Formats: sequence, structure tokens, C-alpha cells
Amino acid sequence: MNEELLPETSGAFAAPPILVTGGAGFIGSNFVLDWLENEAAPVVNLDLLTYSGNLENLASLAQASTPPERYTFVHGDIADTALLTQLFAEHRPRAVVHFAAESHVDRSILGPEAFLRTNIDGTFRLLEAARAHYATLAGTERDAFRFLHVSTDEVYGTLAPTDPPFAETTPYAPNSPYAASKASSDFLVRAWHHTYGLPTLITNCSNNYGPFQFPEKLIPLVLLNALAGKSLPVYGDGQQVRDWLFVRDHCSAIRAVLVGGRLGQTYNIGGNNQRANLDVVKTLCALLDELRPAAQPYAQQIRYVQDRPGHDRRYAIDARKIQAELGWYPVDTFETGLRRTVEWYLANGDWLANITSGAYKRWIEDNYSARAPQSPSSDLRSSDQEESPTFQPVGTAKGLA
Ligand code: NAD
Ligand code: TYD
Repeated sequence: MNEELLPETSGAFAAPPILVTGGAGFIGSNFVLDWLENEAAPVVNLDLLTYSGNLENLASLAQASTPPERYTFVHGDIADTALLTQLFAEHRPRAVVHFAAESHVDRSILGPEAFLRTNIDGTFRLLEAARAHYATLAGTERDAFRFLHVSTDEVYGTLAPTDPPFAETTPYAPNSPYAASKASSDFLVRAWHHTYGLPTLITNCSNNYGPFQFPEKLIPLVLLNALAGKSLPVYGDGQQVRDWLFVRDHCSAIRAVLVGGRLGQTYNIGGNNQRANLDVVKTLCALLDELRPAAQPYAQQIRYVQDRPGHDRRYAIDARKIQAELGWYPVDTFETGLRRTVEWYLANGDWLANITSGAYKRWIEDNYSARAPQSPSSDLRSSDQEESPTFQPVGTAKGLA
């Protein structure tokens, strides 16, 4: 641990906190829990509690083991300048770790405006408030201050099967409204460092999975639908590749960058776990067959549905910079992380039941009802798909909801 940035307070909690935005979402809540387990500085968590923000993710903090001085929740918007000014003045955070965002590609396709508002305008307002706060700092407080912006590998666009993975030097080529909004925010952070000298860091991470992920994303959606006996929707031919990282490994990488990252730099984070979507879905089915056997193998619920427009074919991360400079490596493999994830969802049925409310059902209807079932094109079909009758398109997308 960097003593300068994160001094041990031996339980005194006098040290200034870090300000986490979006700490009630999937990665943010894992980060808050991970931080409080590993670091001395308290956390102030600013979250608007949109559909994906859920205070239940942090329910364990309400228990006696976390003194109230260690954790403060603030319900509010990163685009609310007056609130930000008040928060910076009151808490004088030593660092900002900025997760808050609209985060789902399919939602950005159906409604991009919220992505521009939160991801671009919200990041702009947060940067401005941080800059004003930074101007008030002097000495070691000023030297220690950091603004860490959590971003995505999707800013780099898409890779062909033989392309090298994304490095920090790969040109930006965002393809979805989500990726374009995150790329825009990355550029703002870069400019605030270059022009105003704000001590920024950017992390670009690959697809995360793990506990508390909202079931609009592939892995929790498949788990939820599988257990409910519903269809498991695979977009297009299911051969799109993502580079999966267990969420707690993302959290440890962010801590490493916060402590040791060079100012103004970008660090790519990934688990070197490239998998085709269909393989991910089949692996999940196999784990469920083992851990929660049903009358039929879960893979029989797989259905191909109409592809996402502009769907990026492949993401892969070259994580050599963070490994070489900061000595960060993931702990979980895809196999161990996915098993932990499935076990967590099986043990937390109440959490799932509580969030799959009316608004969630409306989203499933919006995203899937217009997706016609489809057959993967024959030239792309893999051999084991050809063998299995379960991969024929069956029924309508209605079974998804
Ligand atoms: P999420 O959708 O689960 O959580 C987003 C959180 O931000 C929610 O708690 C939400 O309430 C909050 N929020 C939204 N708008 C807000 C606003 N205006 N003000 C305050 N809070 C607001 O997202 P996630 O998957 O946890 O992603 C977190 C960050 O990590 C995002 O910036 C995302 O781009 C980035 N990221 C995600 C992944 C991934 O695989 N999920 C991978 C790489 C990077
Ligand atoms: P997702 O979890 O939405 O993350 P991202 O789009 O940020 O990569 O999707 C992961 C992959 O799974 C992506 O290639 C789209 C695909 N996918 C499906 O095939 N079916 C689905 O129902 C969903 C939500 C995603």
C-alpha cells in the first residue's frame, strides 16, 4: 500500500475519504466492499440509484463490523454541480473513483440520450467540481489527490479474429452509443489532465462478471432465465468474443492504479480470458446442470435471436502495462470466477427476486420482443452446434420475458 496516498489510520478514521461515484451499481458496490476490506480510508458513495443502482448490494455494511465513520451514502446525481461542490467541501476526499454511468449497450441503442447526459455531461461536471476542489489543496494533500475514471475496452471498437488485443496505444473507434459516450468521457478526462493539470488516471477494462450484476447483461440474464425455465437468448451466431474478468480482480486493479499509476496515464485491465458468447452460455448451463440439476439439460433452453445492431465481434485486452508497471495480476480464472458467480446467484435468489420487478420486466419486453428468432448462418455454425437439435430456432422471443 502506498503510505503517502493511503496512510494507515489504525481505526482512527481521521483520514480523508475517497469519493466513489456509482458505488451502488455492479462494479461500484463490489469496489466499495473490496476497498473497505483492504484499505483504511473511508468511502463516500454518491449514487443516483437508477434502475441498476441497488443499496441491497451494500447491505453487509449496515452490520456492526463497519463503523458508520467508514462509509457514507449520498443519494444524488453526478451532474448536480451544487451537490458536488458541497460534497467536496464537506468531505475533502483524497481521491475520486468514478464508476457512475449508463452501462448497457442494448439500452444505449434503444435510448442513447441518457448515455450522453450521464456519461459525458455528468463526467464533465464531476471533473469541474474535482478541479475546483484540487485548486484548494496544497502540500501533501495536493500531491496525493487522484481522479480515477473507470472506463471500458469498448472505446477501442472491434477486433478481427487475428488482430492483436487492445493496447493503451490502440486508436479509439467506438461503435455503439454507449462506447461513444465512454470514449467522449475518456477524452474529457485526458483534456482535464493535459490542460488543467488535474491528476487523472483512466482504466479501460474488459467485460466483468460476478455477484450483484444486474440481469440485463449476458451472464446474470442467462442464469436468471435458465432457472426460470425461459429461453437463453444468443444474439446472432453467438461467436462474438469477449475477454472476461471476475469483478473482484477489476477492483484490485483499480486499487493498484490508484496507488501506483502514473498521472495522466491509461491502464488496460483484462483477464486474458477470451470466450465466444455461445461457449460462455454453454459453460453456465453445464455449471447449472451440476449445481442445480433440472429435468432437462439447461442447454436445451438456448435460442438464437436477432443480432444486436452494430454488434462488435471481438474484444481482447493486452494487460502487459499494468502487469509490468504495477505488478497486478488477476486471481480468478474464468473457471473459478464463473463457478463463484453461479454459486452466488444460486444462494441469493432474494436479491434477484427483488430487482426483477416491473421495470425489469418492461426492459425485457423492450429489448427482446422485437428480436426475431434466427438460425446461425451455416458458414459460421460450429460443429457441435450442428450436432445438437437444441440450437434450432424454436418458438418466439416471448419465452424470454
Ligand atoms: P451499473 O449500471 O451496474 O452501475 C452504474 C451505477 O451508476 C448505478 O449504481 C447507478 O445508479 C449509478 N448512476 C447512474 N447514473 C448516475 C448519475 N447520473 N449520478 C450518480 N450515479 C449514477 O454499471 P457497472 O457495470 O457497475 O459499470 C460501472 C462502470 O464501469 C461504468 O462506468 C462502466 O462504463 C464501467 N465498465 C463496466 C464494465 C462491465 O463489464 N460492466 C466493464 C468495463 C468498464
Ligand atoms: P453484455 O453483457 O450486454 O456486455 P457488452 O455488450 O458490454 O459486451 O453482452 C455480452 C455479449 O453477450 C455481447 O456480445 C452481447 C451478447 N448477448 C447475447 O448474446 N444475448 C443477450 O441476451 C445479451 C444481453 C448479450
